Amino acid sequence: MAKTKVVRIHKFGGPEVLKYEDMDVANPGKDEVLIRHTAIGLNFVDTYHRSNQLGENPPLPCVLGVQGVGVVEKLGAGVNGLKKGDRITYTGLRGSYAEMRTAPASRMIKLPRDISDDLAAAAYLRGLTANYLLRRLHKVQEGEMILIHAAAGGVGQIMVQWGKALGANIIGTVGSDAKAKLVAKLGCDFPLVYTKGNWVEKVMEITEGKGVPVVYDSVGKTTFMGSLDCLSPMGHAINYGTASGPVEPFPLQRLHKKSLTVTRPTLATYIASRSDLEAASNAFFKVLREGTVEVPVAGRYKLKDMVKAHKDLESRKIAGALVVEP
Ligand SMILES: NC(=O)c1ccc[n+]([C@@H]2O[C@H](COP(=O)([O-])OP(=O)(O)OC[C@H]3O[C@@H](n4cnc5c(N)ncnc54)[C@H](OP(=O)(O)O)[C@@H]3O)[C@@H](O)[C@H]2O)c1
Repeated sequence: MAKTKVVRIHKFGGPEVLKYEDMDVANPGKDEVLIRHTAIGLNFVDTYHRSNQLGENPPLPCVLGVQGVGVVEKLGAGVNGLKKGDRITYTGLRGSYAEMRTAPASRMIKLPRDISDDLAAAAYLRGLTANYLLRRLHKVQEGEMILIHAAAGGVGQIMVQWGKALGANIIGTVGSDAKAKLVAKLGCDFPLVYTKGNWVEKVMEITEGKGVPVVYDSVGKTTFMGSLDCLSPMGHAINYGTASGPVEPFPLQRLHKKSLTVTRPTLATYIASRSDLEAASNAFFKVLREGTVEVPVAGRYKLKDMVKAHKDLESRKIAGALVVEP
């Protein structure tokens, strides 16, 4: 048993419920490893967990964070394929806001030598998300016009660059003129500031009234009905995030006129099997290595400063991916 610093919550709520505390970390059990983090991911989903927006009701107190990078310190019984000192990355395991933690060995991916700890912390969950959205859930076609909301965000910037490399023409919505300039540099063909004017009309103008075959919508409540209006016949609305709040209930009949499809996916399903996890990781490492996708670190926080980190994340001031130093 060792002591570790963690950030955990004793009740659900705003950023102020995040507490920097000491906690005991147990020895790794069967099929587990003990990890010493070198960098921790900070993702928008952490804010949903903090407020219990997804209604998962985890037992409290609960250490937040789902993504980390580090070094294997100790192996539990039965662990094969990993050794002490290996650099690893993982996602989808609650409890990463910690200097040290135990976790199932089967979810660890060895970090290639040429991918830095910071890059993995900033980009791994986001990159695996872009991979399934663009290459599995809706396979982007050469020459297709696609709409990506919150294009200047952490996931958004990866989606723009990867979508462009797959041959798509991209309409990207953003919250400010500065963010519009940024996404244009990344290859977004039509940046739209959706906080000003009627963005649905603009999408229809750009597509000459046809609409787009797919909308990647991570904003939810404030955009989703508009996203449906932007679709071409048989179009696909993908609501993969709820940054402005969950999508409100709507009549299914609303999809009938244009035979639309709606999906509410999660990365967890797309990397549930070990083979899918490895394939997604390799696909993302490849585009990083080739320089197809670049992920600069947009902000850096100490673990003890997570209240500020969450406030900044929710303020919409940040453009890009963030890293936490344990
Ligand atoms: N389903 C999945 O598998 C999955 C996996 C990973 C991430 N996600 C989702 O993908 C999205 C992006 O994640 P991220 O970590 O990279 O975050 P992020 O995009 O860096 O931050 C969220 C962005 O949403 C936009 N936004 C619009 N309305 C907002 C509001 N009312 N409050 C706050 N932000 C608002 C802001 O950009 P503008 O100012 O430009 O509008 C903000 O920067 C999140 O919604 C996340 O939940 C889903």
